[in-house]
Amino acid sequence: MSNHYLSIEKSGPLHGSVALRGAKNAVLAIMASLILTKGTSKITNVPYSSDVIQMIDLLRDLGAHIDFDLLSHTLLIDTTYLANHKVQPEIMGKMRASILVTGPLLARFGCADVALPGGCVIGARPIDFHIKSFKELGVLLEREGPFLKAYLPKGTPKAVDRRIVFEYPSVGATENILMFAATLPGKTTMVNAALEPEVFDLISVLNTMGADISYGSGAILHVKGVGSLRSIEHEAMPDRLEAGALLLAAAMTGGDISISNAQPEYMDLFLEKLKHMGHAIIIKKEVPGIYFKATNQPQAVSFKTGPYPSFPTDLQAPMMAAQCIANGISVIEETVFENRLMHVKELQKMGAQIDVEGRKALIRGVDELYGAEVIASDIRASCALVLAGLVANGSTKVIGVHHWQRAYERLEDRISVLGGRIKLHVDSSMRSRSEMGFYS
Ligand code: EPZ
Repeated sequence: MSNHYLSIEKSGPLHGSVALRGAKNAVLAIMASLILTKGTSKITNVPYSSDVIQMIDLLRDLGAHIDFDLLSHTLLIDTTYLANHKVQPEIMGKMRASILVTGPLLARFGCADVALPGGCVIGARPIDFHIKSFKELGVLLEREGPFLKAYLPKGTPKAVDRRIVFEYPSVGATENILMFAATLPGKTTMVNAALEPEVFDLISVLNTMGADISYGSGAILHVKGVGSLRSIEHEAMPDRLEAGALLLAAAMTGGDISISNAQPEYMDLFLEKLKHMGHAIIIKKEVPGIYFKATNQPQAVSFKTGPYPSFPTDLQAPMMAAQCIANGISVIEETVFENRLMHVKELQKMGAQIDVEGRKALIRGVDELYGAEVIASDIRASCALVLAGLVANGSTKVIGVHHWQRAYERLEDRISVLGGRIKLHVDSSMRSRSEMGFYS
């Protein structure tokens, strides 16, 4: 566990304007997709977060030449000389997104040696949907404990039409199959696919590369295999999850903020719930982004997480923090991951009144929370605890902040500029890479 921690003091209303960094969950898949191409691609609006650094390390291990300009948030990735289809287990284990290189490696080399991915401990996080779909597309796979050896039979796959039906609209499995099928001869129909905005950011990148992917009615994606794909330039979409975190920080402190590059069209249900709490969400055609003004009498709301466009599971924990100090009772049901309520016990340490039964939490709003030393169990739990710390009486110390750093590029600095009293404490012997300037 790193020695980093975040200290947060009770803060006044947040005010001002703020911009979003690129979406981690779009950027990681896009970086993996570059394995499909030869040449140098340029990705902009890339957050300097530790998951992006891990993906850089993974691609470099495969033979990619990468430069990351921290100041302009621009990644230059040259995949011309990729020569390795084996991912080291210790690299695979660093994050969930590492599994996303399987499809592109199979497409490029006809084989991929990977291991079980890492990621937040919010559930078992199996990869059975990935494996089942690869098999249905003719891939041969051998599991040896945590290792997975995937390969295509000798010879060129026949140009046939295939139909993949996902048991659940898995984001990662959808992305893996999209990247594999993009150059697979024939047509692949993907039924019950994930429709998250980040999936469509990947689709836009693949089509810019020369792929032929279209979205039919219902949750059906159509992929016509093409011969080869070319390197691209792409600006990663802004992070709707960062937008959610910032809006909730303003909501809980009773402030008003504007987020210039927010995309409200990807946040419908979350914004509806904020309005039901009594907050004002102002979206003007002529002005991009969102203007937000908090009510000083927030009403508790209930919701159930689910695949897009349902309420996003990645905003469940941060939204729960807001219910802790709202008027009334909120019932939150987490349907996507089986173990994504670990932040509850930490919020209870701060005085939150929460009862849990299975995947449901019942939250009774209280007048105040109080500061405590709390442990972040995963990325979005760290966000919930930071938000609670902004309104809690006294000081809050959030440890396990490597989770925070996995997804948010110095979000504490942007919250601080808006008036939040928050500081990242870095152990002097462990200077974060972002303080070392350019990464290349
Ligand atoms: C992606 O994870 C995101 N991560 C997650 O964000 C996000 O919470 C999740 O999608 C859902 O939106 C990245 O994009 C890097 P899934 P992923 O496959 O692809 C089960 C964050 O905080 N499942 O849609 O792993 C799985 O256990 C992270 O940024 C299987 O059973 O999610 C879960 O219960 C957390 N077998 C459900 O499906 C499989 O083969 C949804 O998982 C795959 C998934």
